Amino acid sequence: MTTYEFLDPHHLTEDDVADINRLLPQLTPSPAVVDLTHIIEVAKLSAALVVRDEHGRIQGTATLCSIDALTGHSGFITNVVVDESWRGRGIGEAFVKQLVTLAQFQSMHHLELTSNSARVAANHLYQKLGFRQRPTNHYLMLL
Ligand SMILES: CC(C)(COP(=O)(O)OP(=O)(O)OC[C@H]1O[C@@H](n2cnc3c(N)ncnc32)[C@H](O)[C@@H]1OP(=O)(O)O)[C@@H](O)C(=O)NCCC(=O)NCCS
Repeated sequence: MTTYEFLDPHHLTEDDVADINRLLPQLTPSPAVVDLTHIIEVAKLSAALVVRDEHGRIQGTATLCSIDALTGHSGFITNVVVDESWRGRGIGEAFVKQLVTLAQFQSMHHLELTSNSARVAANHLYQKLGFRQRPTNHYLMLL
């Protein structure tokens, strides 16, 4: 049995911290180790959705960040990852659908996300759920 929930900044455990630190290397090759304080901040500022197994352990996560700009209120989906042993069961799809529903509920005008073309499953998932590729250059500056 799995349950979906948004991380509650007041009810995070050390197991949650360990689980998130197990998932992040499956998202990016050398992520920073995150601590409880950081996860609490993220849970306060953004909608960090997780899926828990029957033991309450986190097996995947996805985050909706809101962007408030002069052009309007929109959202950015990021940190979408499902533990390797839990993939192919519809969790990724459920994550994105739930975040789209939340974005609509929050009256966001649109949602954005990025995904490297090497991420075959992720690109397939986003396009299947209605995200369209934009002819926009994506830039990054490390600070
Ligand atoms: C992307 C990811 C979150 C999908 O999670 P998931 O729970 O396995 O996704 P689902 O079970 O909901 O499957 C979603 C779709 O991806 C497809 N898929 C899975 N693996 C695939 C692969 N290797 N190639 C193509 N499509 C694939 C599934 O078949 C499904 O599409 P379908 O219903 O049309 O068959 C997961 O693969 C993952 O964590 N990848 C590593 C991290 C990552 O790339 N994150 C995205 C960052 S942008």
